[in-house]
Amino acid sequence: MKIYPLLRQAPWHLVATLLLSSAAAVSAQGNAVKGQYLANAAGCIGCHTVTKAGSTPYAGGRGLETPFGTFYGPNITPDKETGIGSWSEADFKRAIRQGERRDGSHYFPAFPYPSFTGMSDTDIQDLWAFLKTVPPAKQANREHELRFPYSLRFLVGGWKLMFFTPGPAPLPKAEVAASPVVRGAYLVGTLGHCGECHTPRNFLGGPDRGELLGGAKIPEGKVPNLTPTRLKKWSDEELKEYLMTGTAPNGDIAVEPMSEVITNTTSKLTADDVAAVIAYLRTLTPRDEPK
Ligand code: HEC
Ligand code: HEC
Repeated sequence: MKIYPLLRQAPWHLVATLLLSSAAAVSAQGNAVKGQYLANAAGCIGCHTVTKAGSTPYAGGRGLETPFGTFYGPNITPDKETGIGSWSEADFKRAIRQGERRDGSHYFPAFPYPSFTGMSDTDIQDLWAFLKTVPPAKQANREHELRFPYSLRFLVGGWKLMFFTPGPAPLPKAEVAASPVVRGAYLVGTLGHCGECHTPRNFLGGPDRGELLGGAKIPEGKVPNLTPTRLKKWSDEELKEYLMTGTAPNGDIAVEPMSEVITNTTSKLTADDVAAVIAYLRTLTPRDEPK
C-alpha cells in the first residue's frame, strides 16, 4: 500500500532519460560481439600478432614479407602509448576507410585497406567496439624494413590515385542485399580481402582487376585461381570442407599462408557465410590460370 506514493514520486523522467541514453550509447558504441566476428572474417589477428606461441593477440610485431620489403603489423590493442588507446572512433574509421594516419599521411597498402574501405559504417563501428575490449598490451611498434624507394610513404599517395577507390560501395536494394551472392561478395572482396593474394598485381603492386581472383604469385609461391576455371572441379561440399578444415578434395592439406587464413578466418564463419562465399565464387567470370 505504502509503495504507491513512492512510485509516484520516483524520478521517472530521469529513469527514462537514463534508459534512453544508455540505449543510444549502445548503438553509438557498436556491438563488440559482432565486431569480434568481423575481426575474424577480416583476419585482423594474423598480421597484428607475432606467430610464436604465447604472443599477445593484436600487439603487433608480425613480419609480413612482400616484394617491397618486410612490413611489421603495428600494435592495435588499446594501450595508450604503444597501441591505439588514444585514438577516437573517427581516427579508426579514417584508417580503415581512407588508409590515412591521424597526421594525414598514407598507410602502405600492406594494410589491406584497399579492400576494407568497402566496410559499412556499422561494421566499422562494431569492429572498433571490439578492439576496445582487447586487453591493452605494451609493445612498441617495429619499423618496416623496405627497399628504397618503396620506403617513401608519400609515394603511396600516387599509388592510391591509381589503385585506391574509397568505399563503401553503395548499398544494393534490400531484396538484392539479402542474396547470399551479395553477402559473399562482401565477405570475399571487403572483409576477407581474398583478392589481396588471389588477384595478380602489376609491377607497381596494384591489383589487376581485369584478372579478379584469377590467381597470382606471391613470395611464398603460387596462389590458385578462385574462378570457375579451376573451382568448377570442386563441389560445394568440397569447397566448404576446404574452407572449414583446410583439406582439399585430393587429400592435400592447405599450406601457408592459406592455412592461416583458414584457421583465423574461414573456419570461424557461420555455415550461412561459408555458403555465401561459395555462392559468390561460383558467379565469378572465369579467368585463365596464371602463367
Ligand atoms: C595483411 C595484413 C594485415 C591485415 C589482415 C590487417 N592489417 Fe592492420 N595493418 C597492417 C600493416 C602492415 C599496417 C601498417 C601500415 C603502415 O605502416 O603504413 C597496419 C595498420 C593498421 C592500423 C593503424 C595502426 C597505427 O598505429 O597507425 C590499424 C588501426 C589496423 N591496421 C587495424 C586493422 C584491423 C581492424 C584489421 C582487420 C579488419 C587489420 N588491421 C587487418 C597489416 C594488416
Ligand atoms: C595471404 C594470402 C591469401 C589470402 C588472404 C587468401 N588466400 Fe586462399 N590461398 C592462398 C594460397 C597461397 C593458396 C594455396 C595453398 C596451398 O597450396 O596449400 C590458397 C588456396 C586457396 C584455395 C584452394 C584452391 C585450390 O585450387 O587449391 C581456396 C578455395 C582459397 N584459397 C580461398 C580463399 C578465400 C575464400 C579467401 C578469402 C577469405 C582466401 N583464399 C584468402 C593465399 C591466400
